[in-house]
Amino acid sequence: MRLQKYMAHAGAASRRKSEEYIAEGRVRVNDEIVTELGYKVDEYKDRVYLDDKRLKISIDNVYVVLNKPMGIVSTASDEKDRTNVVDLIDINRRIYPVGRLDIDTTGIILLTDDGDVTNKLMHPSKEVPKTYIATVEGTPKKNELDMLRRGVKVGREKFAPAEVKILKSFDDDSIISVTIHEGKNHQVKLMFEKINHPVKKLRRISIGEIELGGLEIGNYRYLTKEEISYLKKLK
Ligand code: URA
Repeated sequence: MRLQKYMAHAGAASRRKSEEYIAEGRVRVNDEIVTELGYKVDEYKDRVYLDDKRLKISIDNVYVVLNKPMGIVSTASDEKDRTNVVDLIDINRRIYPVGRLDIDTTGIILLTDDGDVTNKLMHPSKEVPKTYIATVEGTPKKNELDMLRRGVKVGREKFAPAEVKILKSFDDDSIISVTIHEGKNHQVKLMFEKINHPVKKLRRISIGEIELGGLEIGNYRYLTKEEISYLKKLK
């Protein structure tokens, strides 16, 4: 963004007046006085001052959902330097994934720079439902699925009741829709391991009202206004 536009957006003065201030040497970008009128500032990174008073513009937060491919880690920085979900988003803002998906899990993951929304979604007492489609070994019996519906204990961990439904059953495996209300590490895999039907494939299709829809694997999209207001309204 041009410096005079930035200044006008920040409410310092009109663009014309801002140009005068720039020419007069009253405007500083970071540590340097700038007198060039067309000077471009990065509104996300640069600090702009008029007579040493910081000028700030309000920048909306960004919210992106990605259909995470297999083999991509979901942490923003990885000690082994593997490709992570942030690397797949072409954006000049610092955004962070909300929660995690295992490296071999595909599907919807939210990335944002909105700390409030992140905290709300990550808070253990929040019950934002997350729905997964799991391919598991064999076909679980009703009593096994009922264990997951009541909430199972795995080691010291007690998982809250989940909604589970068999969508398709084949000779060797079955496809199951699973909705959980918490996001503990490897939760879905551990739940199915516990009932002796290990997960072979896992895909997350929704986070609350935000759905993967037709988003292709490796692609991302910005959230709609409605989706953003849904996130902001979460208690
Ligand atoms: N549960 C899992 O086991 N893995 C994931 O990636 C997400 C939920």
